Order: sequence, then C-alpha cells, then structure tokens
Amino acid sequence: MNKPVPVIAIDGPSASGKGTVAQRVATKLGFHYLDSGALYRIVALASQQAGIVWTDAEAVAQCAKNLRIRFDEEQVWLNDADVTNDIRSEAMGKGASQVAVHPAVRKVLTSLQQNMRRAPGLVADGRDMGTIIFPDAVLKIFLTASTEVRAQRRYQQLLAKQQTADYQAILQDLLERDARDKNRASAPLVMAEDGILLETDHLSIVEAVNQVLENY
Ligand code: CDP
Repeated sequence: MNKPVPVIAIDGPSASGKGTVAQRVATKLGFHYLDSGALYRIVALASQQAGIVWTDAEAVAQCAKNLRIRFDEEQVWLNDADVTNDIRSEAMGKGASQVAVHPAVRKVLTSLQQNMRRAPGLVADGRDMGTIIFPDAVLKIFLTASTEVRAQRRYQQLLAKQQTADYQAILQDLLERDARDKNRASAPLVMAEDGILLETDHLSIVEAVNQVLENY
C-alpha cells in the first residue's frame, strides 16, 4: 500500500509565531506550506468587496464557494488580483476570525485545504490542522506564547512595517480573537489529544524550528 503524504500540523493562537516557524520547517524539509489563515482572510476580504457582512453565514459561504484562490511562492492571488498585502491588515485578521465561526464557511474551505496535501509533504499552519483537517498528521505541534509576548511580537511586526501601532489596542484585539477562536462551536482552537505543546515565550524562532524538526 502507498504511504500517505506526510503532514506536519502547526496550530496555535494569533501571533504565536507559527507562520514563520511553519514556513521555515517546510523549507528545511522541502515540503509544501499551507497558510490556512490566509484562506479565512481571503474570504473576509472577498465578502467585504461584495458588500456582504461577515455575520451573514450563508452569503459568506456562497461567496467563498466561488473564489479562485492561488498561492505563489510569496504571493496570494484572488481572482487574478494580488491580495498579498490587503489580507494582512488587522481589519482582515478580525474579519477572518468572524467568518471562521460559520460551519458552512469552514466546510467550503475543507477540501481546498486537503487538496494541498502533495508529495513530498506538507506543513500546515492554522487552528484546526491537527484536529479536523489533517487528523492523521504525523506530527501535531501546538505553538503558543503568553498573551503579553504575542502582543509585543505583533506590535514590533507592525512597527517594522512602518505602520502605526498601539500596544494596548493590539493586546485587546488578541484577547478578543483568542476568545472567539477558543469558544466557537465549530472547530475551536484546542490542542490535539496527540499534540505536542511548544511554549515559545523564551524560544527564538531558530530554537522553535529546531524543536519541531527534532520531533519529526
Ligand atoms: O496571523 P494570525 O495568527 O493572527 O491569524 P491567521 O492565522 O492568519 O488567521 C486569521 C483568523 O482565521 C484566526 O483568528 C482564526 O479565527 C481563523 N482561522 C481558523 O479559524 N482556522 C484556521 N485553520 C486558520 C485561521
């Protein structure tokens, strides 16, 4: 029997560093990389462009169904438009967490995510990679850090991008987003039963990457 294509799932809360860690692990192993959060951000953006409110589950799911999404090396495309920067705004992060509560929206994105499982392997980053989308992942990491450290990291990221940043507002936003992600009924943010906890308050990116690789 053919062996299934290996998946490494890296889940965790906002600004825990999972995107950077997952990308570097993928590069080291020569695996593909799935940024599942980008999909929810694209759905938030496309809905907004279509004049659909994020709370309208059915309309958002219908909108998601008709999207043409493409990931390049560095860019994300939505219906032939480069939306790489647009989806990274704080507003779209908030919108993503609102459209993500709808089971109908999550359902539309499920096969899209599972289809990205290709040889030689996939590193998938998100909230439900190890619990729902790839339950047979060979390695499930739950990457986290304290709220204060995550808010500080996000703050520094925004400053580095020359954007204005307000630490208290970022902290407040993270707390709201954490609560929404953990408390939703559909695919809430939880560590998989067979997951490995990686607490990164005192770990550099390189150390976190090495710990993931050591567990593989
Ligand atoms: O960059 P950040 O960690 O803040 O967010 P992200 O990974 O881009 O995801 C944005 C939002 O999409 C999250 O707050 C989640 O609500 C949602 N999401 C999800 O529900 N399931 C996933 N697999 C990935 C993201």
